[in-house]
Amino acid sequence: MIPARPYRLLINRRHGTPGVVVLPEGGFRRARAEIESWPGHAPTPLRPLDEVAHATRVAAVHYKDEGGRFGLGSFKALGGAYAVAKLLVGELARRGVAAHATTKELEAGAHRDAARGITVTCATDGNHGRSVAWGAQRFGCRCVIFVHETVSQGRRDAIARYGAEIRVVPGTYDDAVREAARTAEREGWFVVSDTSYPGYTEIPRDVMQGYRVMAEEALDALDQPPTHAFVPGGVGGVAAAVSVQLRARHGDRVKLVVAEPEKAACLLASAEAGEAVSVPGELDTLMAGLACGEPSLLAWQELERGAAAFMAVPDASAVDCMRLLARRDPPVVAGESAVAGLAAFLLVAEDPLSRAMLGLDADSRVLVFGTEGATDPELYARLTASDD
Ligand SMILES: Cc1ncc(COP(=O)(O)O)c(C=O)c1O
Repeated sequence: MIPARPYRLLINRRHGTPGVVVLPEGGFRRARAEIESWPGHAPTPLRPLDEVAHATRVAAVHYKDEGGRFGLGSFKALGGAYAVAKLLVGELARRGVAAHATTKELEAGAHRDAARGITVTCATDGNHGRSVAWGAQRFGCRCVIFVHETVSQGRRDAIARYGAEIRVVPGTYDDAVREAARTAEREGWFVVSDTSYPGYTEIPRDVMQGYRVMAEEALDALDQPPTHAFVPGGVGGVAAAVSVQLRARHGDRVKLVVAEPEKAACLLASAEAGEAVSVPGELDTLMAGLACGEPSLLAWQELERGAAAFMAVPDASAVDCMRLLARRDPPVVAGESAVAGLAAFLLVAEDPLSRAMLGLDADSRVLVFGTEGATDPELYARLTASDD
């Protein structure tokens, strides 16, 4: 369905071995109840891609299409905004303003002055910052978002639209993460990051609990459990959330494949090394949301045993998939970072050895997470316009 291109596939030898509980069930129940109470909440569509299943000789392929999530364009709407809500409620209690404020009250303007005195911040390649800014605007606190220099103007504007101040940092996403942390420390702001590191896990854990709603919806919508799931990997947060949800529902029966860009494959590198490691370089992948060189600590703790395999795919295959989806009938609008999982599946599906390594056959039911729509509409139009 797409041209064959070079990729890397690593089967995870530690898959299924016992490890720590990264996302406790109680936290997920709270996240789900909160997010499902938000105005405009609706499960995103799970699209059957019958022609893809037919062409790849598997029983079914379903595509979880996150393009319409809360009007923000990606699954990230579930994580950052939820973590902002939780942080504000906790902070208002700690400051003696309100012992049990609810997000409904905050949205209605209760405790406005106290909330305004709280600033949330993060680094982002686009989607997470949009979610944090959206949450801050809804719940009434201040927001400053750090972006690295290659984040497109379209993505910066989309964040600023929610009232956040944007600060541009030279270097990569990882440099922006460090700058956000330094500034927050100096100014007494709260970092609402989607990546975790030693000593900083509580908020990213809330972010990931929010992401689990996406995986839960997909599993609820399927008649039969999938045999395989393909998910994009940046710092690993969403892949880990999917992994936890798959294991909670189906034990180790679903093989999870984490797909990263060839130029930013820190999770694959970590699996190879047997511990979380960073990858050097510019991370100049087209898949902006996946341009991460350092795994999230929490995510890695889950994925080092929860993922069945890791893959690195070329940027060109992402573009192939965007076009494939754009030209099908009915079309599916998918951004560059959305399709890493689909690209991984389509690449391995054409290779007998890779199929065998992953146990893909005529009975396989494949679940693919399509994590964003056209979050940068100008870039989307350019990439899907022609075949050059
Ligand atoms: C659209 C999209 N998909 C996937 C990811 C990867 O998520 P994570 O960094 O949690 O692995 C991102 C991250 O920004 C994203 O924006």
